[in-house]
Amino acid sequence: MSYATTDNQTELTLRVQDDAISPKTKIKPWSGVKSLKELTRKWRRKINDILKQRDFTEERLQYLLNEVSDLRIQLRELTAAQAGSEGEQGQTKESFSYQWSQITEGMALLGDKDFEKQMLELLSTYVDQPREWFQGKRVLDAGCGIGRWSYAFCKLGSNVMAIDQSASGIGHVKEMLKDQPNFDARPADLLKPLPFEPEFDLVWCYGVTHHTGNTKLAVEHVAKVVKPGGRLFLMIYGEPTKPYEFNEINTYVELRRATEHMTFEEKREYLAERYPLELVHGYFDAISPKINDLHRFGEIETWLIDLGFKDVRLTLDNRNLHIVSDLPK
Ligand SMILES: C[S@@+](CC[C@H](N)C(=O)[O-])C[C@H]1O[C@@H](n2cnc3c(N)ncnc32)[C@H](O)[C@@H]1O
Repeated sequence: MSYATTDNQTELTLRVQDDAISPKTKIKPWSGVKSLKELTRKWRRKINDILKQRDFTEERLQYLLNEVSDLRIQLRELTAAQAGSEGEQGQTKESFSYQWSQITEGMALLGDKDFEKQMLELLSTYVDQPREWFQGKRVLDAGCGIGRWSYAFCKLGSNVMAIDQSASGIGHVKEMLKDQPNFDARPADLLKPLPFEPEFDLVWCYGVTHHTGNTKLAVEHVAKVVKPGGRLFLMIYGEPTKPYEFNEINTYVELRRATEHMTFEEKREYLAERYPLELVHGYFDAISPKINDLHRFGEIETWLIDLGFKDVRLTLDNRNLHIVSDLPK
């Protein structure tokens, strides 16, 4: 491309821009330069131009990410209301049922000594209450899986009801906690109104609603059974914002694509060949279910305020949103 100008500055700027478009374009800022000072000045200008270009690229990328995020929310609202999403919902439920019957050990599950040492403190931090607060409180563990948190609530002396769509999960937690007098469990679907009154001091829902295909509806259903004066805790997958978070999500997407044609058993074997045994559960949980929606804090905050909750806040600095909010008396 040629430029009808004799102005050196304009020519250099245009060449730099052109260079960003076509890496093959050669820039020779030293051509016609008479002194080192002049050369330094020219390079400084070139670097400034490149930095401006980079800022512009970042702004455009952020704009696109915002657009994708808004589109994802709109798409979710559209598909959530359609029966067409049942295939993905069915696959997601089956994946968890397989997981809870075949991969019941791993990092951050019961049996992991580090997790067991930390779990009571984690509950206290996430719920933003001292350990003594849990004693005698009526708690719903909504989407309990195989019951690691139900177990921890029982340890803290709570009166626990656990629910999950997975029969294998419910079977497992019932057997594990059969000697606990203040524990019960039953199957339930978070996409349907729950069979309880607003009776719980704490509704705990860790890593569940974003797997339902209609996060908003599931949040509404769990929120409805918090008693006035009670607290709701939600852990919901968040959108990535930091470099390593993008890297994490990209890894999951690649693994999902590499394994999407496989049976659950084949996926488990695929992961076991690539990762240490204690990580297989975590990777399977992250990549096998088809529904893994990501959300923004502001989105959830709006839902909760609309449902009458106050003081909606994050209790952990993490991509995954650890949210508590209170229902006024
Ligand atoms: C990632 S696991 C989390 C389990 C548990 N909360 C924990 O932290 O160990 C997600 C759980 O959500 C349950 N789940 C998914 N969709 C559900 C639905 N519509 N109703 C009830 N449970 C559901 C799955 O069966 C699974 O046990």
